[in-house]
Amino acid sequence: MFTTLPHPRATPADLRAALLENPGFGKVFTDHMVTLRWTSDQGWHDGQVRAREPFMLDPAAAVLHYAQEVFEGMKAYKTADGGVALFRPAENARRFARSAERLAMPAVPQALFLQAVEALVKIDADWIPGGEGSLYLRPFMFASEAFLGVRPAEAYTFCVIACPVGAYFKGGAKAITLWVSDDYTRAAPGGTGDAKCGGNYAGSLIAQAEATRNGCDQVVFLDAAEHRWVEELGGMNIFFVFDEVLVTPPLSGAILPGITRASIIALAQDAGLRVEERPYGFDSWRADAASGRLREVFACGTAAVVAAVGEVRHAGGAFPIGDRTDGPITRRLREQLVAIQRGAAPDPHAWLHPVTAS
Ligand code: PLP
Ligand code: COI
Repeated sequence: MFTTLPHPRATPADLRAALLENPGFGKVFTDHMVTLRWTSDQGWHDGQVRAREPFMLDPAAAVLHYAQEVFEGMKAYKTADGGVALFRPAENARRFARSAERLAMPAVPQALFLQAVEALVKIDADWIPGGEGSLYLRPFMFASEAFLGVRPAEAYTFCVIACPVGAYFKGGAKAITLWVSDDYTRAAPGGTGDAKCGGNYAGSLIAQAEATRNGCDQVVFLDAAEHRWVEELGGMNIFFVFDEVLVTPPLSGAILPGITRASIIALAQDAGLRVEERPYGFDSWRADAASGRLREVFACGTAAVVAAVGEVRHAGGAFPIGDRTDGPITRRLREQLVAIQRGAAPDPHAWLHPVTAS
């Protein structure tokens, strides 16, 4: 399905090594990309593995006007056995198909999605950092038809690009600070909150900017109807840790069904902890933090993995979580997840998907 076109000027090994030393997040890109096109008459076609380069896009391309775009975020890791593996990539393929359906876009068949991602991981395998780094993969699809009428487009481009990445938060493993947004909501019932579409993030940026202005790492969104129930962060799901019980907001349709979230639920249950997926209000959060009943809070997602929350700020004040550091449950769940992702611990749920060299 994919034709490989030779790269005319791949990055020299010494420059690549220098870029891999401290890649940050989302700033350094590998040499290649994978592309596929879809048209209503031909379906998916023209699969290519080729040099990463700018797209030629008509100024009337529907994505530039009506934001018909969906994406995924997933990682490839160097594993303890010297190989390379993806973490639960079939879940990303499934979520991508659901996001596409919600945005009235054609589904990329799961096998094709996986082939595209694997092709990029293989050709850019030298870009996977060692140590605590990983290769962040960004599959995405957008409406490329030149047409200004408002209806689902009849031409799309699917693409996968990759970034070698280190820690998402600049403070590394330091606990993060959250800002609870009073003015903005991210998603409403019946909307696109559970789809991974660019528009959700566009609408969240003003709230994220407000969080940054207030010295916080991430914004917390409350529900649209009552502005009371905690939903999720700008780019992560959230867990509240009580004695022997974890609470996380339910998949109401307004939050992203995180693959890290699902993995944490499974690991916690394996460890004998009870997990309650239920609404949790901001008023309870404040009261439980004050009483000490709430032991730990953490955020989780592909980019951030598992990040402890040390403090919560809002228009009316601020409150600490525990002693403001990584608590024992947060640390244990993070270590277990990371060990599985890197092939350093048994993988009882078969989450790792090895990518073998071709
Ligand atoms: N919520 C939002 C809004 C996100 O952008 C992400 C990141 O992908 C997540 C949650 C976590 O999802 P996952 O664990 O699948 O990366
Ligand atoms: C991810 O974790 O993959 C995301 O898309 C979230 C974003 C903060 C990078």
